[in-house]
Amino acid sequence: MTFDTTSPQFRQDPYPTYANLREHEPITLLENTTMGLGRAFLVTRYDDVVTILKDTRYSSDMRKVGDTSQSKWWMPKALTTFQNSMILVDDPDHRRLRDLVHKAFTPRMLQDMNGVIENVTDELLEKMAKKGSVDLIEDFALPIPLTVISDMMGVPHKDRHKFHKWMGTFLEITGGSKLQMIGKASNVFQLYRFFKGLIKLRRKDPQDDLVTALVQAEQDGDRLNEDELIAMIFILLLAGHETTVNLIGNGTLALLENPDQLHKLQNQPELIDSAVEELLRFTNPVEQIAPRYNLEEVELSGQKIPKGSRILLGIASANRDETAFPNADQLDITRTPNKHLAFGLGIHYCLGAPLARMEGKIALQRLVARFPNMQLAVKPDEVQWRTSMAVRGLKTLPIWVS
Ligand code: HEM
Repeated sequence: MTFDTTSPQFRQDPYPTYANLREHEPITLLENTTMGLGRAFLVTRYDDVVTILKDTRYSSDMRKVGDTSQSKWWMPKALTTFQNSMILVDDPDHRRLRDLVHKAFTPRMLQDMNGVIENVTDELLEKMAKKGSVDLIEDFALPIPLTVISDMMGVPHKDRHKFHKWMGTFLEITGGSKLQMIGKASNVFQLYRFFKGLIKLRRKDPQDDLVTALVQAEQDGDRLNEDELIAMIFILLLAGHETTVNLIGNGTLALLENPDQLHKLQNQPELIDSAVEELLRFTNPVEQIAPRYNLEEVELSGQKIPKGSRILLGIASANRDETAFPNADQLDITRTPNKHLAFGLGIHYCLGAPLARMEGKIALQRLVARFPNMQLAVKPDEVQWRTSMAVRGLKTLPIWVS
């Protein structure tokens, strides 16, 4: 089966294609993947994705199989430096890097952020009430995680929208061609310079924030080198807001498209925890996770995959697999059990999951309570999705609130 992962039709609604692949070609060989990265196998069944995430024969580190496809001469340094991030390496390096920051993300530490999230949410809801007609992404879903991760990391207020714009371009690149990537390289370069500037600022002017803590870890000696430091700031800022914005944005759209579920949540606010889990499963804020590389020949769903292949894991597809979720294409905010893979599985399980859940819960609960009659201001098939293959999110979401 051939299909174009960058086509607008696929972006608009990838689920029918994924269903077809799961049934007929669960291990799909893609000859030309985005960014000019060549061939890869796309895995779409729930059980296969789980197997890969639990098995140490699959590595996150492309260097172990001699794959240099992501460090070609024409690639911006920001992209190649990113290879040093915890998400793209295996233990023990992965564990060393994760341990440097994991304390900042435990549920107990995050209790302090609860008040910040509630205040930002309420301020935004007030502003929206005055406007009546809003873009839910720009006016609500984005500023919440952007403010929270920027506060935690110590990004100055004046820089927040700038780095968001550059990161957006970085994500678009992941869904585009090699030519598009080269065309947008200057944006990625600016992003890299921004990280360097932030590091310099916190060396000179230390604060009680994560960038300062990381800069100090680097200065302490051999716990973190400079490329790893940049990669760490990059992954935390990127994962900290470009994912949660989609949980809130896609989640709101899914509720508006399923009014029975929206009303159920409005009438039973105590369902918010299971509603957030179901919205994660159903809307897939992250569509495809970091590629894995098999260190030996393997067989999945009856197909052999040669040693050293690049394997793409379609978690958005796995989360709609009927064998794992009865009536998988239906939104059911009371669904139990709900062993979705929206936060991944295994050693790379999302570090920010408790924070993302807290943000999603506060944002969605207060939104549906504050605007019980909110409505889509465009037809459902007119909403525009972003081009990234890594995340699944809306460009804008025009709604009426009252
Ligand atoms: C709804 C929001 C979010 C979703 C759906 C999400 C999803 C994921 C997924 C699927 C992974 C695994 C990637 C892999 O195995 O290749 C991951 C890893 C990660 N996430 Fe999240 N994430 C979210 C929010 C956040 C937030 C708020 C942060 C905070 C900074 C964060 C930080 C990270 C980090 C650092 C990793 C890498 C962990 C490791 O390699 O050990 N995420 N996330």
